[in-house]
Amino acid sequence: MKRSVTKAIFPVAGLGTRFLPATKSVPKEIMTLVDRPLIQYAIDEARAAGIKEFIFVTSRGKSALEDYFDDAPVLEQELRRKKKKDLLDILKSTTMDSGQIAYIRQHRARGLGHAVACARRLIHNEPFAVILPDDVIAANKPCLEQMVEAYAETEGSMVAAMEVPADRTSSYGILDVEEGEGQTLRVRGMVEKPEPGTAPSNLAVIGRYILSPRVMKHLSGIGEGAGGEIQLTDAIAREVGGDGVHGFRFEGQRYDCGSKAGFLQATVAFGLARDDLRDELSEFLSALSLSTS
Ligand code: UTP
Repeated sequence: MKRSVTKAIFPVAGLGTRFLPATKSVPKEIMTLVDRPLIQYAIDEARAAGIKEFIFVTSRGKSALEDYFDDAPVLEQELRRKKKKDLLDILKSTTMDSGQIAYIRQHRARGLGHAVACARRLIHNEPFAVILPDDVIAANKPCLEQMVEAYAETEGSMVAAMEVPADRTSSYGILDVEEGEGQTLRVRGMVEKPEPGTAPSNLAVIGRYILSPRVMKHLSGIGEGAGGEIQLTDAIAREVGGDGVHGFRFEGQRYDCGSKAGFLQATVAFGLARDDLRDELSEFLSALSLSTS
């Protein structure tokens, strides 16, 4: 019987250079969309998909991230004293049980594949999820939950996939897939950041994965790939001829919150989705577009 997916790795050890100077002292994953840090969206998505163990691959300077999941007794006491139950509930929903969460250190940013491999001793002979918190996906059914359901019908590994413009393929891992109509497509090959004009398709890998434990083994055997980094794509590609890999075309809107433009777009979209902010924000945006047109 196929094993369920109960562990997720959150690689959060990157340097976040595109957000300097902010990321000099603030981890990118703590930056907020409206009033919730990016990491909270990722955790909520993982929980909805049935994840029970949360493994963070962190690095120097990320202690704010670890603090974020702790109890905050002084704050709680104060909110209780002031009878602010709503805020208290919000605060409590961010706390994680000590036994649910593990932090592993990546000592040097050697790439996403290397970050995932740092968690290898916590993954046994079981499939595991990987979530990149800077890919935020707004969807009726959370993306990882969609994937877990589709995964139950397939073998091997699965990666989230989305069409990107042809001139953007060199920024992504790109899939070569068999012809197909549905959401789940069999992968024939994968290439990380293909040279312009050489991409096998414009179907890009987005930061949600369900991986066979064999990918951990491949990670220990591969060398540096694109950009001189240990690439997760290269290790997953080895499974194409093994247990197999599927691309999953998820339903939902993905925001690249690792880029400034994507982060701003997500901020506006998430603000407009909030009942308490929609009217004021849309009024402001209309006035702004009138004044700039
Ligand atoms: P990015 O490619 O966005 O790199 O990593 P980055 O360092 O976060 O940001 P920039 O490009 O310098 O602005 C994608 C994901 O992989 C993690 C990042 O934390 C992010 O979640 N990552 C990347 C690691 O954990 N370790 C690495 O060595 C590289």
